[in-house]
Amino acid sequence: MSIYEILKSAHSGWRYIVLVLLVLAVINALTGWMGNKSYTEGNRKLNLITLISAHLQFVFGLVLYFLSPLTKGPMGDAMYRYWKVEHVSMMLIAVVLITIGNAKSKKGLAGTAKHKSVTIFFGLALVIIVAAIFMMVKADPSKTLLGFG
Ligand code: HEM
Repeated sequence: MSIYEILKSAHSGWRYIVLVLLVLAVINALTGWMGNKSYTEGNRKLNLITLISAHLQFVFGLVLYFLSPLTKGPMGDAMYRYWKVEHVSMMLIAVVLITIGNAKSKKGLAGTAKHKSVTIFFGLALVIIVAAIFMMVKADPSKTLLGFG
């Protein structure tokens, strides 16, 4: 197995870690926000682990960008355009939003305000990531929604 194949599998499988953590973090933050709950150590840890998982996915993706044959085709082709530009830019925006949401949760705000920041920023990132994965399946028929089959 080449480095490319190993990274491709890692990046493909790691999506589930990022998505599950992101969904959990958004649910926790939303219930904290709506229920006027305090911002606990558990909340802080979950948000931090979610941030780290997204950053790690970003690093896998960044290396793949240079190794993958999918980023070396003409822009006029919808599939290559997806891999060259759309995937990277949407995922980059999502990771930046997660980073901002986590940073905002550290500021000297009340618990509810921290939950609100995480709900909005992590929630937006989740929507963008899911949209990018749907776009991937449309642009590149060799990829599947769930990464297998
Ligand atoms: C949270 C962020 C990200 C998620 C959830 C994500 C998700 C995915 C998924 C599901 C695939 C398809 C894997 C497969 O089944 O074959 C993929 C492929 C790919 N991703 Fe990402 N990605 C993210 C960020 C990035 C970033 C930031 C870059 C580049 C800087 C990137 C570059 C690539 C490349 C080049 C491929 C194609 C690999 C190949 O098949 O040759 N990804 N990504």
